[in-house]
Amino acid sequence: MAFPTETVYGLGASALDAQAVARIFEAKARPSFDPLIVHVPEARDAERFAVTGDPRFALLASRFWPGPLTLVVPKRDVLPDLVTAGLPAVGVRVPGHALARALLATADLPIAAPSANPFGSVSPTTAQHVVDGLGERVDLILDGGPCRVGVESTVVSLVIDPAVILRPGGVSREDLERALGHPLEVRGSSSRPLAPGQLDRHYATRTPLALLGGPAPKDPGAGRVGLLALRAAPAAHGYAAVEVLAPDGSLATAAARLFAALRRLDALGLDRLVAEPVPEEGLGRAILDRLRRAAARP
Ligand code: TXA
Ligand code: MG
Repeated sequence: MAFPTETVYGLGASALDAQAVARIFEAKARPSFDPLIVHVPEARDAERFAVTGDPRFALLASRFWPGPLTLVVPKRDVLPDLVTAGLPAVGVRVPGHALARALLATADLPIAAPSANPFGSVSPTTAQHVVDGLGERVDLILDGGPCRVGVESTVVSLVIDPAVILRPGGVSREDLERALGHPLEVRGSSSRPLAPGQLDRHYATRTPLALLGGPAPKDPGAGRVGLLALRAAPAAHGYAAVEVLAPDGSLATAAARLFAALRRLDALGLDRLVAEPVPEEGLGRAILDRLRRAAARP
């Protein structure tokens, strides 16, 4: 079933049931080499299927969970290989949404869940987005309203020392560096990605999207153009549609609104979309990462 988390909606199944996990890949049409995040109600519940003795695990868990952080640690044999796509390590997360936590507590099972969208497309931040993308392919959707954070969890690998960020997300690099006491590298994308969020083209809209180098020009140029603006729409404009991400100027607001705004613009059938950049700091790093990948040409 699909369920809300504070980041995006997930498509969940028992992480201990390979057949159920296989149905996730089927519903998403996701290449089977992509590992899934396993969600648990409390950090200690991960011990059943993962090796969590690393002191960095306890440190980051106590500082950031429940919350938008995924920790990659060695897996145990009880976890089907399909969950980790054959990798010896598993991504673990304790989500911060009340409904997700109620589901996990009731199921009394670790729940493997990727974002509840067809592979490669924009992630869902409302139950309606899940219906739009997966429809009949999902048995049940728990509706918990719009997601508070709006971009996916930050993925940190503890399999290597020093730790690296595999995907920027809802917990900022600055906060992680403060907790760990040293600088963190963000692993760039590669042709053999460790995480599909690292694929060059991901989070894609159907309408071609370009990421601008600065504030949007007043004149959009040829065609019917949609604008994803940061703080305010340009004064005199010829844009067919404008979405303002953060009228209050806050990056947290921009992150929470990002995917829904992209979907609204994409639904208008325009010729192209342009997006203003956001500052490359804090949550801005996760937003820029998603925009760059949405803008990458196939
Ligand atoms: O916020 C989130 O993380 C959401 C909610 C539902 O929890 N989930 C999510 O899942 O974004 P997904 O599958 O769309 O992205 C998970 C990311 C992928 O980039 C995946 O490759 C990486 O986490 N990941 C998961 N397990 C991993 C592992 N064992 N090693 C390396 N990367 C892993
Ligand atoms: Mg995803």
